[in-house]
Amino acid sequence: MALLDDARAVRENAHAPYSNFKVGAAIRATSGKIYLGCNVENVAFPEGTCAEAGAIAAMVAAGDLEIEEVAVIADSPTPVPPCGGCRQKLAEFAAGDVPVTLATTGGATLVTTVAELLPGAFGSSHMAGG
Ligand code: THU
Repeated sequence: MALLDDARAVRENAHAPYSNFKVGAAIRATSGKIYLGCNVENVAFPEGTCAEAGAIAAMVAAGDLEIEEVAVIADSPTPVPPCGGCRQKLAEFAAGDVPVTLATTGGATLVTTVAELLPGAFGSSHMAGG
């Protein structure tokens, strides 16, 4: 899978000296363009950012706002699940049926969707009465 290969490649650039857990993410937008991100840790631990957040930031900075497909990879015993915050960040720009491929560097993959990752998501409709 090409998008997963992109995620695997960018993972090599992750800055993860504190967790030693490198993550790579690749997003294909509806424009067809691919955006990449890796986790960037910081000695002030809470300042670190996830791979998915980096890819989303690159996408928005380039002018794309609609995600078509996502791939995330790490050296994990099972396909790496995005953290809760990243699930919400993905849901901002992706419809519920957008496929998300979770992978291990060892070759295991699990294909899920944004809606499966974030059931009951908070969305703009919940602010309609505000
Ligand atoms: N991490 C990600 O980049 N994405 C995820 O979805 C899970 C966690 C990073 C954050 C941190 O740099 C390291 O993995 C360990 O939590």
